[in-house]
Amino acid sequence: MKAFYKLSFKKSETGIYGDLPDAVAGKNQMLIEVKAVSVNPVDYKIFNANTGLLPGAKLPKIVGSDFAGIVRKPADGDSKFKAGDRVYGVVPIFFGKPGSLSELLVTEPKNVRLIPYGMSFQEAASLPVAALTALNGIRRCGVTAGSKLLINGATGGVGHFALQIAKAKGAVITASCSSGNSELAMQLGADKIIGYRKEDMAGISDEYDAIVDAWGQMKFKDIFRLLKKDGTYASPLILLAPGFLTSLVWLFSRKRITSMNMRKRREDFEEIEKLFSEKKLKPVIENIFTLEKASEAFEFAEKGRPRGKVIIIL
Ligand SMILES: NC(=O)c1ccc[n+]([C@@H]2O[C@H](COP(=O)([O-])OP(=O)(O)OC[C@H]3O[C@@H](n4cnc5c(N)ncnc54)[C@H](OP(=O)(O)O)[C@@H]3O)[C@@H](O)[C@H]2O)c1
Repeated sequence: MKAFYKLSFKKSETGIYGDLPDAVAGKNQMLIEVKAVSVNPVDYKIFNANTGLLPGAKLPKIVGSDFAGIVRKPADGDSKFKAGDRVYGVVPIFFGKPGSLSELLVTEPKNVRLIPYGMSFQEAASLPVAALTALNGIRRCGVTAGSKLLINGATGGVGHFALQIAKAKGAVITASCSSGNSELAMQLGADKIIGYRKEDMAGISDEYDAIVDAWGQMKFKDIFRLLKKDGTYASPLILLAPGFLTSLVWLFSRKRITSMNMRKRREDFEEIEKLFSEKKLKPVIENIFTLEKASEAFEFAEKGRPRGKVIIIL
């Protein structure tokens, strides 16, 4: 099977597009013919890191986490899926498990869902990591109808989903993005647009019930100035502030600092799928690469300032 993989744990090692032995399903595993994969920052962060130190690390390392495709062979004894089903999901990329960037993928049924009616492979592959993280952030921030919300980095992978989910909930949204993306942010549901440069942030006089920082690196002083009392700030990056510090912050300021993460819960997938079927959530896909060009897709996702999701088709 063709795949995109690394043959070394060295940071400097480039990815290889080439042939590997066909994946074979083991006990309780299903075999999937992959049709589309989306690129997430976690993929190129792992790709660029020395992952040899991770538990169970092994080579060749196939990268990629989100996927969509067709079931070739269901897991033995599993009645949920049958050969030919259109499916999507996300595979864990730690502990020596292969990623999704290969023509054939083996994984457990718990990592897989049926693609809802009317959703393309590319749209399905764009959802798991980014949309589930966005949903978690909107929930953690307690966003409801009328909430005054700031979304920082509102047209990237996580941000453009957060924007649409918050709009569906009836939030009043200020979106921060680079100037070229203002129109897209308005189309996706923003009520007001601001830039994210230092001087743009300094110019905001509003206060917000919640801040979903999809970019994840807002300055502490901006967070505290812009967040109302009892407000919540969520970041998708591992918070550098330990639990006791965020508790202290809450104690003295009544402002909550929290993280948002991908949760693979059935009800979360269902909420995203429902929003899609109600036409309230639509993945933005402007950049599509073939598997052969996967290293260009990774480079573009990391440095090319993509809007929405970058997709690799197989
Ligand atoms: N914890 C988790 O489970 C989890 C899950 C998903 C993602 N993440 C993390 O979340 C982060 C975002 O992921 P993503 O998929 O949304 O990435 P992405 O698609 O690359 O989007 C990044 C966004 O950040 C914006 N941005 C760039 N510089 C900025 C700045 N100085 N201030 C404000 N915004 C800025 C970009 O806006 P412009 O293009 O307009 O410049 C873009 O909208 C990554 O660090 C990723 O690793 C964590």
